[in-house]
Amino acid sequence: MKIEVIFFVHNQLEDYFYNRNVVVIDVLRATSTIITALANGAKTIIPASSVEEAVKIAKNLERSTYLLCGERHTKIIDGFDLGNSPLEFSPEKVEGKKIILTSTNGTKVFEYLRKSKNVLIASTLNVSAVSNKMMEIDSDWSIICSGRDGFFDSSDAILSGLIIKNLNREVNVVELNDAGKTSLLLYEKYEGNILKYLKDTDHGKILIANGFEKDLDFIAQVDKFPIVASFTNNYIGILK
Ligand code: MLT
Repeated sequence: MKIEVIFFVHNQLEDYFYNRNVVVIDVLRATSTIITALANGAKTIIPASSVEEAVKIAKNLERSTYLLCGERHTKIIDGFDLGNSPLEFSPEKVEGKKIILTSTNGTKVFEYLRKSKNVLIASTLNVSAVSNKMMEIDSDWSIICSGRDGFFDSSDAILSGLIIKNLNREVNVVELNDAGKTSLLLYEKYEGNILKYLKDTDHGKILIANGFEKDLDFIAQVDKFPIVASFTNNYIGILK
């Protein structure tokens, strides 16, 4: 099995993901929010790459059926129902709702994945379920770390390392590119200390400064939600 970890997604990669199997990671916080919302009963997640696109999608839906959600600079967008903190996405709020979500980095990645084969959504919260599904599909995979404003985000890299660690336990030969090898080294160094590590990342520090420290405590829970979610036809839902 070949695993290619990608630390940055650039415009020139637009056609790159055609027919590929892909895992998307934005641990802080879009993919963690997506997994929490689905586990708590949201009907579907519609990722939007901009505020304008999110508002446009909402205009075509019945008001009682959706929640308009997202952040810019980690804060809720003016006029939106929810921000991008997984703690906001409780069963009471999201049960049965379509969640339109736009985030600074994570939700933009899906633009490139409309023609991919299998697209799985990974967070610490569902990492073993994702690793197991990758083994079940038994193919080569690209793992995309969404990054932060064009910068490397090591919170994504440590999770890709944990996925690789899981695969290595079960698959005879996992072939890694340089970013994959680096992710694995990073995970092995901080295994057992994920919360501490997340709090010390650049992105973690920004979240703490903006009052979201509890999000980090929540996101650091490995395998809290053993679900697999996938992106198909512009929607993200639980894969049965
Ligand atoms: C992103 O997409 O960059 C993040 O989810 C931002 C955040 O921390 O809310």
